[in-house]
Order: sequence, then C-alpha cells, then structure tokens
Amino acid sequence: MTGPHTLIEGGQIATASGVTRGDLLISGERIAAIGSGDWSAERTIDASGCYVLPGGIDVHTHFADPADFGPSKADDFVTGTTGAAFGGTTTIIDFAKRRGTESFYDAYQRRVKQAEAQCLVDYSFHAMATSSGLADGGLDDLRRLAQDGVTSWKFFMAYPGRMMVDDTTILTAMHAAAELGVMIMVHAENGAMVADETKRLVRSGRTEEHAHHFAHPHLAEAEATNRAIALGEFAECPLYVVHVSSQHAAKRIGAARARGSRVWGETCPQYLFAAYEDYEQIGYDAVKYICSPPIRERSNQDELWRALSSDVLSTVGTDHATFCVEDSEELPSGKSRGRGYFPDIPNGVPGIEERLMLMYEGGVAAGRFGLERLVDVVSTTPAKLFGLFPRKGTIAVGSDADLVVWDPNAEHVISATTHHVRVDYTLYEGRTVSGRPRYVLSRGELIVDKDDLLARPGRGRYLNRSEVMAG
Ligand code: URP
Ligand code: ZN
Ligand code: ZN
Repeated sequence: MTGPHTLIEGGQIATASGVTRGDLLISGERIAAIGSGDWSAERTIDASGCYVLPGGIDVHTHFADPADFGPSKADDFVTGTTGAAFGGTTTIIDFAKRRGTESFYDAYQRRVKQAEAQCLVDYSFHAMATSSGLADGGLDDLRRLAQDGVTSWKFFMAYPGRMMVDDTTILTAMHAAAELGVMIMVHAENGAMVADETKRLVRSGRTEEHAHHFAHPHLAEAEATNRAIALGEFAECPLYVVHVSSQHAAKRIGAARARGSRVWGETCPQYLFAAYEDYEQIGYDAVKYICSPPIRERSNQDELWRALSSDVLSTVGTDHATFCVEDSEELPSGKSRGRGYFPDIPNGVPGIEERLMLMYEGGVAAGRFGLERLVDVVSTTPAKLFGLFPRKGTIAVGSDADLVVWDPNAEHVISATTHHVRVDYTLYEGRTVSGRPRYVLSRGELIVDKDDLLARPGRGRYLNRSEVMAG
C-alpha cells in the first residue's frame, strides 16, 4: 500500500469484539498495521485519553428526497453528510425512489449522480420498490441492480395508495431476494389500520398535531412486523425491519430470532430518547416529533433499550428525514403545512449528527452496554448486513481507514444553533452529552478536527456492495 502515512497514537482501539490499547498505522486510504512498532509517518494524531472507533455507518437516511407526497427535505447530500461527518458517521446508505414512470434502474443512476458531486462521506443506496414500479416490470430492474451491487430493496407496508405494496408483491420480491442474496427491508406498519384510525380521528375532530400518535397504534406495527417475518421465513430470505419503535414489534422480532430466523431490527435515537409525553402538550411544536412509526410512550423506551442491549434489535440508524418547523425564504416550507391537521404533517425527524453521541451517552455512559456493543450497533452489524464488511465497520489491517477518535470526557451541548445539518431544530435541544468525536477520518483523510470541517463536497465515494453477510 502506498500513499501518505498517518499514525494514530496512544488510543484504545474499540471494535465489536474488544477494546485494546494500541497504535494504528494508516497507509493511503487503508489501515496498514495495528499494535505498536517503530513506525514513521508524515502525520501523527494523538489519541491519548481517547477511544478509536470504526466510523459510524447509518443505513437509513433520506437526503434530498424527491418530494412526491410532501415538501422537499431540508437536508441535501451536502448538509446531511456534513452533519454525518461531525457526528462520526463516515458511511451513509440512502434510498433511490423512482419519479413518475422512471424505471428503478434509472432512478438509481439519477440518485448516484445527484450524490456524487455532494457527499462528504462514502455512500450507497437501497432500491425503494413501489407497487406501480413493480407493476411496470420493475422486478427485472431490481435483479439487474442486485447484480450491480445494490443488495437491499425496501418496501412499504404502510401509506396505502402511495407507497404501500401488498403481500403478493413482497413475497414475489422475497423469492428473488433469497436467490440473489439481497436483503429485504420493510417499513412495517399495517397501512389499513393506520388509514382507518386516521379517518376515525379526523371524523371526530381530533386533528391536532400530537394526535398523529393515536393514528399509529402499537398493534399496526406489531402486526406488519409479524407478517413480514412470516413472509420472510416462508421465502427464506433475509429481512431487515427499519425504524422499530414499538416494544411489541421488537418482541415479534425477538421471538423470530430465537427460532433462528434471518431477521434484524433497527431502532433509532428518537425512539430511545424522546417520548410521546414530550410532545403531548406543546401545541404546534409537536410537529417536530412527528414521524412514522411514531415516537411512543416513555414506558416503551426501557423495553427498546433492553431489546437493543440483548441483540433482539441489532442496529441503530437514524431515518434522518428533515423538514423545517419555521417557514423561511431560504428553505422549503415543511412541517407547517400540517398545522392543526396531523394527516398533512410531513413525517420525519433529524438525528444523524447526534446519533453516536446519544448512543454513547445512553448506552455506554449510562451503563446499559459496553463500547463493543456500541460499535456493533452503529457500525459493524450495519456493515455486515449491507455488504460492506470488512472494508467498513471494523478496525482491521486492510480495512478502509474510516476512524473516529472519540474523546469520552469532552462535553457537548446539542443545539440547532450549532449543528451542521440544515434543519432548524433538534429534538435534543440543550441536552449536554459527554463523549464526542475529536477527529474523524474517512479513507485516511482527516475530515473533521473537532469543530473544523476539512472535507469538501464530492470527496465521498460510491460503494458497490456485496451480499448480506450476517446470520
Ligand atoms: O416518518 C418517517 N419515518 N419518514 C421517513 C420515511 C420513512 O417512512 O422512513
Ligand atoms: Zn419508514
Ligand atoms: Zn425512513
């Protein structure tokens, strides 16, 4: 390996399987040696008092999403991946959704092109499959994409009339996925139940912002999760349930995993750190919390933490999908289109910049799990499930030098006035966390030095992925 050498000295190196003291030698874009040696390098980074973690991998972002049933997102690939970099996330996987009658294949190429000039960190996409696209012969496109390294296809079991697909469609795709080594991803909510409950609430005049919560009952999520698991078991294909918010859905996943099913559940910081009680009585500001599935009761949180600690849930993504709360000239209007009428509130919340800090705080510092588990859920398992391991997701000789020098003693106050994403709020305003990135490296390049961004848009690289590797 050639290229400039960087030495990261004196840190504690944390992977999903252990924490050891050691130095790291980087040659060009890759890790060249781990341990201690008489190494010389053009640059030395002092990691004493710090942990060295593999860069975070967020497999669930929605940047610059085409707005087919709502306003545009506040964050594009530049601002979204800038927030990612500051937060210690060095790889993102977003979604390619078709527009109009475009083919899935063309939608994918368009998204890659859009990201190419903008991303500051490495990126890839899941193919988002819709009923209309599949009816237009889209399965052949999905097969072609899988051969090109697009080894995950996402389906919605919610949003009837827009994104929802029926069981036959999912099952057909699952058979193809089983054959090709593709991961099927589902947004698991029973669309009929949510639509029915929404209608009932609207008819009875319960349209206030926080009533969104009642329109998305636990049972709708648990039922769809269970159904997706059953379909996946029947087709013998790997299944990833995105944004698990309900303890009842988590229980269905736990039971399936216990009987050996190849199913993995993702939860998100908003479900672990925010609660319905936070937005029940704040009027219009409740729009900040509106996402689907919803942020649930505080009593649900402990169960999700337990599920994450015990490997019932396997990963933490963000579902970073941002809409501004205030209307302004510079940014597309967002959440305000649903003022006083929850069915019209664009769904989604921010989280990419805070993900690692929150998970360190609530997981490691709070004593719920160790550093190894943190690394596992924010980096290693996502890399394995989405065909990026061991290039990404670990610290090993030959792996990409995507690294976070983590200062466990540095305090940080989370605030929309200082964050780097473009959305005008955070759910964690004013919260002090201890532990934050000191340096962030992507493929050997120092991209963040504490509060300074050293990377430019377009430096991120597209990642071709291989088959699912876990389970
Ligand atoms: O409310 C959410 N989660 N919005 C983003 C799109 C999705 O369903 O993941
Ligand atoms: Zn979703
Ligand atoms: Zn999402």
